[in-house]
Amino acid sequence: MATHKSFMSPLSVFLPPVGRPVRFTSLAMLITVFCLSNRTGVAQLATTPPMGWNSWNHFENKISDADIRATADALVATGLRDSGYVYVNIDDGWQGKRTESGALPPNERFPDMKALADYVHARGLKLGIYSSPGRLTCAGNEGSMGHEQEDAKAFAKWGVDYLKYDICSYRKVIEQDAHGDPELARQMMFAVFDKMHSALQATGRPIVYSVSQHGLSRGWTWANQAGANLWRTGDDVRNNYLSVTEIGFSQGGLSQFAGPGHWNDPDMLEIGNGVLSSDEGRTQLSLWSLLAAPLLAGNDLSKMDSDSLAILNNREVLAIDQDIEGRQGNRVWTEGPLEIWVRELTGGSFAIGLFNRNQGPVDIPLDLKLLGLRNAIKVRDVWQHSDLPPIQGSETFRVAPHGVVLLVLHP
Ligand code: GAL
Repeated sequence: MATHKSFMSPLSVFLPPVGRPVRFTSLAMLITVFCLSNRTGVAQLATTPPMGWNSWNHFENKISDADIRATADALVATGLRDSGYVYVNIDDGWQGKRTESGALPPNERFPDMKALADYVHARGLKLGIYSSPGRLTCAGNEGSMGHEQEDAKAFAKWGVDYLKYDICSYRKVIEQDAHGDPELARQMMFAVFDKMHSALQATGRPIVYSVSQHGLSRGWTWANQAGANLWRTGDDVRNNYLSVTEIGFSQGGLSQFAGPGHWNDPDMLEIGNGVLSSDEGRTQLSLWSLLAAPLLAGNDLSKMDSDSLAILNNREVLAIDQDIEGRQGNRVWTEGPLEIWVRELTGGSFAIGLFNRNQGPVDIPLDLKLLGLRNAIKVRDVWQHSDLPPIQGSETFRVAPHGVVLLVLHP
């Protein structure tokens, strides 16, 4: 049976014994100490949602050193790096067999991880890697169970800047040991993710920590306390509109858990993977940006069509995602398959997405009362790159099937 330390709310260490009053000054001090200690090594990373690329959606378990180098080159050549896509993340499939001494070397497709990291860094990019708290990863490769410190040390030595840590086979351990008790399951999950976070911190290298627990145990309520800069809010995204929208439109109500240094992660992008239409691709990038979600492209960047590149590289949309205050948006209106989502931006403006999940074009009414506004003086259509006339009260927008109209309004 795997060991797990008991879960204690990080706040509980600061709660006074029953019956003893706490003066405001000491309480304020304790809260300050709590905030500082809790965020040490976390908050200064991922101050905006991480942007980059991940190998899984396109390359799956066959990823190689050559693919990573080609992706790094493509990020530079396409201009995506300069738009903020800086993380080049190797997902599952890099691992070799653990040696008797406990080291986990890469497999034959990755001859020299340090040299690969140097190559990525030389291009102004950062390198990400992947492991699991279980004995095996989801694709059946070696996980980090019982070797957390060795693995974290190796990642730091190679020059890794980002770790995605994926629950995978540890789910079975939880099923066996938690006996269907959700609180115990949550404690066990907290303990294993916290353990790797401590191991990463002990290396002294700043490493963005991505917790991938598939939305289990309401990770948004505790993953940040386990050191995560981002955590998955649901199941794996698949390469089709239904999966993308099922995940994207189910993110309502999570905004209170996100902010600079700690983000909800609805999973990676499927734009450019040959299935989403342009309207569907614009829907994913718009929704993810309104959600302040991490933007990790999941396609083969070295063979990308110009339309996919134009979608991924729309800097007006990316600016919404990367808004410095990091306030995640929410649904404010819905009528059957039509939805309006709003995100408040720095400086009092709003990003607004009008989504049509139906298969025919439709006119969606936007009533500014939804935003507490009467008029909008400046109206920008960020997919059309054009300024629209001011809105008095309300306005109707034609939205393509499976499409979106994405606006930035200034009152
Ligand atoms: C899944 C995860 C995917 C990918 C895959 C690798 O659990 O959600 O994003 O990492 O494992 O095996």
